[in-house]
Amino acid sequence: MTTPDYDAIVLGAGAAGLMCAAIAGQRGRRVLLLDHADAPGKKILISGGGRCNFTNVHTTPDRYISANPHFAKSALARYTPADFIALVDAYGIAHHEKTLGQLFCDGSAKQVVAMLLDECAKGGVDLRCGQPVQEVAHADGRFAVGFGDQIFATPNLVIATGGPSIPKMGATGFAYDLARRFGLKVVEPRPALVPLTLGGDDVLFRDLSGVATPVEARAGKAAFREAALFTHKGLSGPAILQISSYWRHGEAVTIDFLPDAAPGWLADTKRMRPRTTLRAALGVQLPDRLAETLADRLALPGELGALTDRKLAEAEARLARWAFHPNGTEGFAKAEVTVGGISTAGLSSQTMMAKSVPGLYAVGEAVDVTGWLGGYNFQWAWASGYAAGQAL
Ligand code: FDA
Repeated sequence: MTTPDYDAIVLGAGAAGLMCAAIAGQRGRRVLLLDHADAPGKKILISGGGRCNFTNVHTTPDRYISANPHFAKSALARYTPADFIALVDAYGIAHHEKTLGQLFCDGSAKQVVAMLLDECAKGGVDLRCGQPVQEVAHADGRFAVGFGDQIFATPNLVIATGGPSIPKMGATGFAYDLARRFGLKVVEPRPALVPLTLGGDDVLFRDLSGVATPVEARAGKAAFREAALFTHKGLSGPAILQISSYWRHGEAVTIDFLPDAAPGWLADTKRMRPRTTLRAALGVQLPDRLAETLADRLALPGELGALTDRKLAEAEARLARWAFHPNGTEGFAKAEVTVGGISTAGLSSQTMMAKSVPGLYAVGEAVDVTGWLGGYNFQWAWASGYAAGQAL
């Protein structure tokens, strides 16, 4: 059965789809918003431990990973953290900065979903959930979308179905399949903001499960100074999640366990306390179990006074560039986002419309733009959703 037309159909009622639909609806467009899940905004609800880290006040384009680092600039400039904060404030949603510019609700992520649904209602958006999107056909500049047993037609279709991270929550690679069908390229998707797994020689570090310490983690040219956490599978914590987005299979992740230590600190310690051991010297600055494991690995037993400055400098250098060789990640099941996605080469950075398919748009995580941990991914969802919503 074919039903009346819409000006736009948005596939996916997540962060980007809700924003896009609300903006287009409030501009007078007749918008249909479809989702296969039984309720909208599920990832928003679980985000930030249930408090939704909805933006980051330090948002800049260099905090996003994409094959084209310039692509996100236009949308991010036209819908900023201040714009989203103004919306949140207008709804009286109390919030606070937790750390590093990350804004969270004081109350619950439910408030953000309720706000977006209210914005959609203001725009008269027709939201339908809980049916599979069956089939998308395209002919004569019009899209026909099968949803349950109905077929809806429109000249404008927005892909907002996100990435494959956390399939348990209804995440799929649907966006990529659809994009490919329309001739758009997809940059190889990889799990990102994801714990790394350790094997081989590094496997012993798994015994430190539960130990956390501030570090500087590096992979290639990227470096993050935050906490690392040892897990029963390998490495996690904010510094590791951040670096995982840059890490490639086969590469090392190097950890500086004492990023604040002054050069020569071990030789200085030897002069001040020659009878102390390396294990004890490390124990002053690091959690006990970690100090023990590192000292064992460095294999410099006895008192510091008996060791040469050269040996101590070598130990210091290793502690500053401890190389782990992850054998993988915990995969899409545990990844907060996806690096890669619909190639920006085929999209307009102004409107998010496909250059080769007039009327087809892609927004949010489905696109090859991935933010750092800390509210950057929602800011991209709002900004890209807004850009398309303005263009529809
Ligand atoms: P999103 O995934 O939100 O929405 C896609 C929608 O499409 C979903 O509703 C889904 O059901 C629907 N869909 C999928 N396939 C479909 C199909 N075949 N047919 C119909 N519908 C389909 N970011 C951040 O900035 N701050 C934070 O605090 C967090 N915290 C966080 C915690 C956890 C556990 C996760 C997994 C992720 C985060 N993130 C985050 C990342 C953030 O959630 C993510 O970047 C955005 O939700 C992306 O928004 P989108 O709208 O693009 O996709």
